[in-house]
Amino acid sequence: MSLVFRYAETPDLPRIAELLVHSFPGVGHTTSRWEQIITDFPHGGIETAWVAEENSRIVAMCRIYRLDQWISGVVIPIMGLGMVAISATDRRRGLAGRLVESALIKSRQRGDLASVLYPFRDSFYRKLGYGMAGEVQQFLLPPGEFPDHPGRKRVRIVPLPEGRELISPIYDQWAPAQTGQLRRSVRAWERVWEDGGRYAAVYHNESGDPEGYAVFHYRMATPTEGAALDIEEIIWLNREARLGLYGWISSLSDQWRQVIYRAHPDEAFTEHVNTLRQPELKAARWHHWFPTSVTLSGPMFRLLDVDGAWAARRVRPGPPLTVELEVTDPQIPGNEGRRVLTLADGEVRVAPEGGAADLRMSIGIEPLSRIYIGALTPSAAVLSGLATVDQPELSTWLDALLAVPRPWTFDRF
Ligand SMILES: CC(C)(COP(=O)(O)OP(=O)(O)OC[C@H]1O[C@@H](n2cnc3c(N)ncnc32)[C@H](O)[C@@H]1OP(=O)(O)O)[C@@H](O)C(=O)NCCC(=O)NCCS
Repeated sequence: MSLVFRYAETPDLPRIAELLVHSFPGVGHTTSRWEQIITDFPHGGIETAWVAEENSRIVAMCRIYRLDQWISGVVIPIMGLGMVAISATDRRRGLAGRLVESALIKSRQRGDLASVLYPFRDSFYRKLGYGMAGEVQQFLLPPGEFPDHPGRKRVRIVPLPEGRELISPIYDQWAPAQTGQLRRSVRAWERVWEDGGRYAAVYHNESGDPEGYAVFHYRMATPTEGAALDIEEIIWLNREARLGLYGWISSLSDQWRQVIYRAHPDEAFTEHVNTLRQPELKAARWHHWFPTSVTLSGPMFRLLDVDGAWAARRVRPGPPLTVELEVTDPQIPGNEGRRVLTLADGEVRVAPEGGAADLRMSIGIEPLSRIYIGALTPSAAVLSGLATVDQPELSTWLDALLAVPRPWTFDRF
């Protein structure tokens, strides 16, 4: 039986929608709703639908969005993989694996340097070269644990989407210094409030300029969970803005018993909390230890074009280093083999193999992808046997040159 991988076209819509009805069942998930989602989605329309056809049947589909991700202060063109769906009568034939492999090759051809996704099962995508690339600490705590601050008087709530023009410049100023956040188009913002009931609390400085915001929604009580103020994303351009937003959250303590807050692992959130012990959090006991937060993982990241991606990557200033990098990549033959990276003056030059190198490293595409995005250091890769190097003592030098803030991504697709 012949399997053909190709972009979807408008006449395919009913057959794709049928596939999705059985793959993502839900209230209101009718074929006409799926046709609408395929043609008109914040991250792209039918031109992003990639399908597998077998004997005139569409047996598999996924979406390969064109997105831009901030890594090391530069925008990297990436493919966002989503909506992977296999015909409900064609599972466990290896179709998902083959579909994703063909999507990786196609996206590399069209110029995407890397790819990002949210896995249904991380082990499935690890075999396809993706590595975990993002962690947050999720706190569930009373508003009164946040410090009060007079800046709360300059916080105003705006409904979304109306408030987008107020908050998007703050995001645009903030995101380039992060690792893994997307450059958001006007359309991409729609995903932020798509679920409905979203608001933004916006902090203004004394001159009235907006300098921070929190996107939130009100979570109603369910039989298993209490009501909570759910902070979905919180961004500040300076310390005053951060404290002003915290002061606003703190002031809600007579209305809300719980706030859900997700912190970047390096933002030192616990320095701002009065009582770390959180009785609402359930966790197995371990002697006198107590739970403070839950670690959440989400995005996975994979390099598609090793040479192109490293040529785009910025590095820290420091003594230059040349690295001969030998890569194994079972899915993308063009990434296999050796090249020499010269890390100097904040940039990376990529040259074919040959010549002298300070360090020689052999590594698979999955840990290399995590090193690229700052989810793994080269020395940790060596320590855990994920990479081999000829001079282990030089790996910390490479750590220092490649250092970026740890990755996280708010957007979903
Ligand atoms: C999740 C989903 C995409 C998997 O599709 P699939 O075509 O069954 O997946 P594959 O056959 O490629 O691989 C699934 C597993 O079956 C194994 N497998 C493949 N062929 C097999 C066979 N003949 N016998 C036994 N196992 C087999 C694969 O090795 C893989 O296991 P692994 O991860 O341990 O390697 C599919 O179940 C689906 O569409 N689900 C509903 C929608 C969904 O949840 N999508 C993902 C979220 S975006």
